[in-house]
Amino acid sequence: MSARIERVREAAQLASRMGEEVLAGLSSRTLPELPSKYFYDDRGSALFDDITRLPEYYQTRTELAILEGAAEEIVDHALPRELCELGSGVGRKVRLLLDAMARRGLLERCVLLDISEGFLVESAHTLDSDYHGLDVRGVVGDFLEDLPALGPGGGRLGLFLAGTIGNLHPDRVPAFLRAMARQLEPGDSFLVGFDLVKDEARLHAAYNDSAGVTAEFNRNILRVVHVHLGADFDPDAFEHVAFYDRDNAWIEMRLRASRDMRVSIPGAELRLDLNRGDEIRTELSCKYT
Ligand code: AVJ
Repeated sequence: MSARIERVREAAQLASRMGEEVLAGLSSRTLPELPSKYFYDDRGSALFDDITRLPEYYQTRTELAILEGAAEEIVDHALPRELCELGSGVGRKVRLLLDAMARRGLLERCVLLDISEGFLVESAHTLDSDYHGLDVRGVVGDFLEDLPALGPGGGRLGLFLAGTIGNLHPDRVPAFLRAMARQLEPGDSFLVGFDLVKDEARLHAAYNDSAGVTAEFNRNILRVVHVHLGADFDPDAFEHVAFYDRDNAWIEMRLRASRDMRVSIPGAELRLDLNRGDEIRTELSCKYT
C-alpha cells in the first residue's frame, strides 16, 4: 500500500489567504501579530523538533512519559480502529498508540493533518512502510479551518498533542472543539494534551532556552513571510521576546525591532513602519489548570 496525500487548498489559494491574514494581523493598531501557524515550513518544523530536545523544554518529554504509562489504558477505553492526529508530527507518541492498537488487532487507519507539507509527506510514508497493511492518509491543512477535510469519524481516536491547543486564544477553543466534534461519531474519542500552569521560572526558561533555538524558531516566521509574500524583513534586526503573562496564564512570544525600519510585504499589499522597540506578537501558548 502507499500513503495518500490530499491538499485541501491549491498553492495560489494558500498564498492569497496568507496575504489576507498577514495584512489583518499586522494592521492591528494595538499590537501587530503574525499567525503562529506560519512558523511551520520545513525549517520551522525542524527547529521545533530541536526545541523538543532542549533541556529547558519539558513539554515533549512530559507528554511522552504520560503516554508511555497510559497508551494501553487509553486504547482499551476508546477501542479505536483509526488514529487521527492534528498537526504535531509522527513521533514516539503516535507510535505508542498505534502499537497498542495493533496488539489488540484494532489498527486499520491513520489520518494525519498538518500544515507543513514536507513533514507530512515524510511522516505518512514512514508510517506506511513501518506498519504493514495500515491505511495512511495525509491531509495538508490547517486545524482551525480544514477539519472537514478529515471526513466522517467512526472508530476514530482524534489526537491533539504537544499542548498545541495552547496556541488558540481561549475564546476560540469552544468553536474549535465544536468543529472537531463534527468529525466524530458517537463513541469516538478525542485526546488533547494541555500544558499546565507551573512555576514561572520553568515556564520562562522553556521559551528562553540558553542555546537560542527558540529565538531562531521565532525569527523563522519572518523567513516564511519572505518566501511566500516577498516581505523584506531582516530577521537579524529582531530580538526574541518571550514572557509569561500571569493574569492570562499564557506565554507570549514576540519579535522586537532593534532599529527603525520600513518593511514592504508585496503579497499582503502592505508597507509597515516599525520604530526601534516596536513588537510583533507571534505566538500565545496558553497554560491550563
Ligand atoms: C508546538 C505550539 C506546543 O507552544 O510550546 C515551542 C511551540 N513555541 N517553543 C509551544 C513552541 C515556542 C509549542 N507548541
